[in-house]
Parts: sequence; structure tokens; C-alpha cells
Amino acid sequence: MNETEQLRNEILEKTKAYFRLAHAPKLIAPFDKGRSRVNYAGRVFDEAEMVNLVDSALEFWLTYGRYSKTFEKRLADYLGVRWSLLVNSGSSANLLAFMALTSPLLRERQVKRGDEVITVAAAFPTTVAPIVQYGAVPVFVDVELETANVDVALLEAARSEKTKAVMLAHTLGNPFNIEKVRAFCNKYNLWLIEDNCDALGSEWNVQKTGTFGDISTSSFYPPHHMTMGEGGAVYTNNPLLKKILLSIRDWGRDCWCESGVDNTCGARFSRQFGTLPKGYDHKYVYSHFGYNLKATDMQAAVGVAQLEKLDGFTAARRKNFAHLKEGLQGLEHFFILPKHYPKANPSWFGFLIILREETPFTRNEIVGYLEKNRIQTRNLFAGNITRQPLFDVLDEGKDYRIVGDLANTDRLMNDAFWLGVYPGMSEEMIDYMVSTIRDFCSGYDAPASV
Ligand SMILES: Cc1ncc(COP(=O)(O)O)c(C=O)c1O
Repeated sequence: MNETEQLRNEILEKTKAYFRLAHAPKLIAPFDKGRSRVNYAGRVFDEAEMVNLVDSALEFWLTYGRYSKTFEKRLADYLGVRWSLLVNSGSSANLLAFMALTSPLLRERQVKRGDEVITVAAAFPTTVAPIVQYGAVPVFVDVELETANVDVALLEAARSEKTKAVMLAHTLGNPFNIEKVRAFCNKYNLWLIEDNCDALGSEWNVQKTGTFGDISTSSFYPPHHMTMGEGGAVYTNNPLLKKILLSIRDWGRDCWCESGVDNTCGARFSRQFGTLPKGYDHKYVYSHFGYNLKATDMQAAVGVAQLEKLDGFTAARRKNFAHLKEGLQGLEHFFILPKHYPKANPSWFGFLIILREETPFTRNEIVGYLEKNRIQTRNLFAGNITRQPLFDVLDEGKDYRIVGDLANTDRLMNDAFWLGVYPGMSEEMIDYMVSTIRDFCSGYDAPASV
């Protein structure tokens, strides 16, 4: 072993020791009821993530490199898809996925400005934003209450001659009716983008969500199923879409050389593109109006270690969800508790609680009580996104359409909140959430009509 390797090993050993001293005690600190905070999500990691991160820092490649390559391959294998591409966030993944559909390489299936994309308003903003930013028209349909997912019965009514795609998230890890949505897309030759940002590890009929869409997306922001701080991915089985995604992720270039590599195509200075001079350097030929959405190799290094833990995380999320649901049995006169389709096996992102119309307290009253008792809660993202200030500059009927009413979406905006089930939670924490909710409810009589 030479001096460099020896030093590197020493640093990595010290990193492990540092983790054990600086982080491990916080991760295993006993739960102190009413004093410890019950967060809805958080990073769950050990020395492996820190060692990979430091290893990558020492290598100092910084941009797309060996960890990124490994991560993309392992994520694709985990999902059972041909390709995954690493990007710097879930929002970037959605932007990239949508913009790929605007590529002229897709010919008559290219999404053009003014074309319509069916989605829901009970959404995270960056599932919808790329559609609007490009100048396509989001068409909003209502959701079912119990799953907070698209009501598939409304898809036919939402379709017009301009419909080119459907873009939907699996809300809080609970798969939408992918069979019906996929069949609808197949029937009318529409693209499907599955926003899988909150559902990595969820399944439909034993097949992973994110593998049904033409393109699907992930987020690796800390609350998600696994993290690299900031990060995301797009994945696809379609070779043409993969080529387009790669181009738009990497500045819009035509060339597919990896960072630091030249002439992968073997024809770098000999081809003719557009009206450029013959032999114009392929590295500087652009076939799309692209971005740079790449992540760093340090982010990927953390992701590689997290992927190893993903099955364990999924099992913990399912266990925590089941424990919480069991604890809340008997409170259904106040709450609608989450349901999933028989074919779905969710890797839950969170536990959605919807107050019944007859419930004698408000969402903000119970949420206020829980927060006061150090239990973190979350609203269902943007609620009804069409009611958010960002829609003030848009005209209904021209810039977006609403099909029917969004009554259930509004109900979720007004009466729903969610709690965490992340793998860092202990049984004690879940029992504490249950007892705090029960304490709150004990101050109210059951509504007569339920
Ligand atoms: C459904 C959904 N899509 C996209 C995103 C965006 O991911 P990111 O925060 O990595 O940009 C989120 C974020 O939480 C999300 O919940």
C-alpha cells in the first residue's frame, strides 16, 4: 500500500469514528415523550454514507463520475428498468421528463405549446410547473378522497383533440390506479409521466411504480424514501426517450461523451449537422434547448450507500404505517383513514388523515394541538394548486382547464393533514402520536350522523 492509499484509508477509518461519536448518539437517543420532537421525516444514515461521501471528496472528481455511474445502474436494476439518469432534484427530474416530451425527435407525438396534459390539482407544484412553463395546458381532474389520487373515471371527460400526455404523482406513496391510467394512455396514444418522487419502492401487482410510465421521476431530498441531500432521477425503458433525456439533462448537446471523455462516437470531427460547417466538433453540437441538471458525484456517493438500505427503509415505512393505522382504529367517526387499491403495495411516504364533514373540530385545531405537543404535521402539498397565488397570472380556459369541479381536492386542501412514517421512527414515537391524537379527540363527542 502506498502512502496515498494509506492516508486515504486512515481518513476513511477516522470518518467512521467521527460518525460514531458525532452522529450515532443522536440517532439512537431515547425518545423523551413530549420533549423529543417527532419529525415527519428525516435522513436515516450511518457511517457508510459518510465514508462514501468523504471517499468521493478525496477523489475530487466532483462532477458526474464513478459513483454517479454506479448509482444510475443500481437504481435501474432496483426498479427493473433499462436506464436511469441522475439529476440534481426531483423538480429537475420532472422538468427534464416533461421537456423530453417536447423534443422534435418525437415527431407527431411531440408535445407542442398549447397541447394539453391531464393531471391533478392536489399536487406538488413542480409536477405541474414544467407544463405551464413550456406553454402547454394542464387539465385538472378531481381526485378520490381516500387515496388522494386521480379519479380515473374523469379521464375520458378530460381528453380533447389536444391531449398529448398524462402526468401524475403517486400521492404520499399510495399508487394511483396505474392499470386504468396506463390503459387510457395506450388507448389514445398518450405519454405517461409517473412522478414517483414520493413512492420509490411502492408496487402495483408486484411491479415497482415508476416502471409503468414512459418516463418516471424520483426525488432524493431528505424527507423522501432515500436521500442524497439534493438529488433526483428520471428513468425509462424507451431508447429514444433515454437519448433525449440525456441530451436535455446535459446542456441539450447531441454528443453523449461522459465528463472528461472525448470522441465516444468515433466521428467527433467528421459529421454534418444542420448548416454547421462539416466536421464541426460534435461536442459542441446541440440538438435540444437543454439545461445542466446533473448532480455531483458526492451526491451520488451518498445515494449509492442509501440504495443498499432501501429495502429496509421500505419495510420500516410499511410497518410504521400499519402500526399507526391500527392505533387509530375506532376514530373513523372523526377521520377518513388512508386506503389503497388491492393491487397496490405502497411504500408510504406519509399517513394522510382527512377530517369528516361532520367532525366537530377543524384541521387547524388538531394540527395546532399536535404541533404544540411536538409532533410535526404537513398539509397535502399545494392543496388545490389552482387556488395558489402562482395561478393569479393564468387564465382558466386558456392557460389551464378544470374538468368538472375539484370538490375532493378542495376537501383535501381544507380538511386533510399528514403524519410521518419514516424509518427513523420508533414504536414509542408512533404510540405517542396515537395517544396524542386520542387525547385530543377525547374532548369531543362523536358526530351523530356517522
Ligand atoms: C410528488 C413530488 N414531486 C416532486 C417533488 C420535488 O422534489 P425535490 O424537492 O427533490 O425537487 C416533490 C418534493 O417533495 C414531490 O413530493
